[in-house]
Amino acid sequence: MDKLQDNIINEIRNKTDIVEIISSYIPLVPRGKNYFGVCPFHDDNHPSMSVSPEKQVFKCFSCGAAGNVFKFVMDYENINFIDAVKLLGDKCGIEINAKTNYKKLNKNEKLYEIYSLASKFYQNNINTSEGKKAKEYLKNRNIDENIIKEFEIGLALKNNKMLSSLLKNKNYDNKDLDKSSLLIKNGLDYKDKYYNRIMFPLYDLEGKVVGFSGRIYDSYDESKYINTSETEIFKKGELIYNYHRAKIEARKKGYVIVVEGFMDVIRCYTVGIYNVVAMMGTAVTKKQANLLKRLAKEIILCFDGDDAGEKATYSCSNELLEIGVTPKIVRLENKLDPDEYIIKNGKDLFEEKINNPISVMDFKLKYLKKDTNLKDAESTSNYLHSMIEEILKIEDPILEQLTINKLVEETHIDINILTDEIKTKKNIKPEKKEQKAKKVIEDKYIKAQKYLLYYMINSKDALKIYIRKKPFFPNNIYRSLALEIIELYEKNGNVNVADLFTKIIDKKELNESLSSILEINLKEKPSMDELEDYVKVINEYNINYEIERLQNKMKEESLPSKKAEIAMEIIKLKKDIW
Ligand code: CTP
Ligand code: MN
Repeated sequence: MDKLQDNIINEIRNKTDIVEIISSYIPLVPRGKNYFGVCPFHDDNHPSMSVSPEKQVFKCFSCGAAGNVFKFVMDYENINFIDAVKLLGDKCGIEINAKTNYKKLNKNEKLYEIYSLASKFYQNNINTSEGKKAKEYLKNRNIDENIIKEFEIGLALKNNKMLSSLLKNKNYDNKDLDKSSLLIKNGLDYKDKYYNRIMFPLYDLEGKVVGFSGRIYDSYDESKYINTSETEIFKKGELIYNYHRAKIEARKKGYVIVVEGFMDVIRCYTVGIYNVVAMMGTAVTKKQANLLKRLAKEIILCFDGDDAGEKATYSCSNELLEIGVTPKIVRLENKLDPDEYIIKNGKDLFEEKINNPISVMDFKLKYLKKDTNLKDAESTSNYLHSMIEEILKIEDPILEQLTINKLVEETHIDINILTDEIKTKKNIKPEKKEQKAKKVIEDKYIKAQKYLLYYMINSKDALKIYIRKKPFFPNNIYRSLALEIIELYEKNGNVNVADLFTKIIDKKELNESLSSILEINLKEKPSMDELEDYVKVINEYNINYEIERLQNKMKEESLPSKKAEIAMEIIKLKKDIW
């Protein structure tokens, strides 16, 4: 963002009152210094969202949603930052030309443009006479005009030169065309990667088209779908199909349904179920698991009813358990996928399945029992051992006990032996224990960074100390946040939280960190000593880190003289701490 843009954005934010804007969406009532309302971003009846007219920020104490007025409008309206600025600009009479003003915002702008063009082109094709067959195919699958429009379904024609000539006529650089993954080099020329396929756009988290999945419909081809390969804007492991549309509905309902294929999502829409997203047939990554976690409190996995779907359910639920989310599971009979299930049994039966999910442990009991012969001791023992491993992954003691009861019932194992074994395993999980110990120590360092950041937002003394001592924050998110704060301070001579939110609006992790820091309740004015202590603690961390590094180096060193040299260095560093 250059200067001019910054000014316009800040002017719009300054001219709008967050209380006024938010109360045009949800009722707010004053209480003390702040206003309170029922948070629209999660399922709730209690007024857990507070809005501060003084700081011009909002914060939900229940789901953690937080930010400035732009963030609220973005999340509520499901629009991107630029559109939120435009919308609020309209309201206070400041017109901005998003195209010219925000060009620099995106380094992959050309790629987005190419994808948006291609998507419009494909959509147009499906409405021409050549699109008749494709429309018929979709109609046979019960996908009507409205759904075609909503999901922007299009068609790549039989001629495989169409898109390439269109893009060439628009004078795109070959570099950008190469990057797009939509064309294939054909000698010196290009041809289209997709032809004679129904084109389903794939979106990023904001709803911009960043890829396609092309499906065969009237010919034989060994690949049913052809997908965009990874590009700078299309990273499969970081995307979730339909995330941008499902977001609000999932938060409202308090749960999200996760399916495998985008056709399953589209089918759900045809029957009015909107809180659904798809993983698109890949193993779920950490990143995706975290995205799911953000969507709703409850996650219901409803993958295909076949063996592959069962396997995917197992691995996805483990990925979620690792980040502290316990999903619920729905398994569909007769190997059906949600699309086929709804077509065959109707919406009501599907909803009944969704409303009666099984617990993740019940799923695992079934899943792991499949290859077990309960009449055979060794097989039963293997089963029990695997189930113990699964029990170690959950944190809910009640779910643990219920699972143990079921295992006892099934296998007739002595409950004491089973619980003892679980206890022992819990205790000898050495990494876990070590991690815990480390965490306690780390907490002190995290606290120092967070508190210093808190004061950097609230007091000039802290800013001055930071600038003078330049502590190196070990945590990279806190470190970036500190740099953003300083940048803002050096530019404006003060740090306005709402403007800070604007500055980091497209940096999700910083946003989350900042809102959690704002939640801290510290006294108004810190003493200089206190501030310097925080810096000291941060430095101590860095020194300890260096000591550890040197100690490792010393271990590997064989020359006694070198060893002594390093030892001296370590001693020196230790003196710096105490
Ligand atoms: N997929 C893919 N390539 C394939 C098959 C599947 O990329 N050859 C991905 C697609 O993203 C698809 C998901 O895996 O959405 C699920 O695959 P599948 O269950 O085979 O697709 P369906 O949703 O059943 O599609 P359809 O009903 O059109 O056959
Ligand atoms: Mn299907």
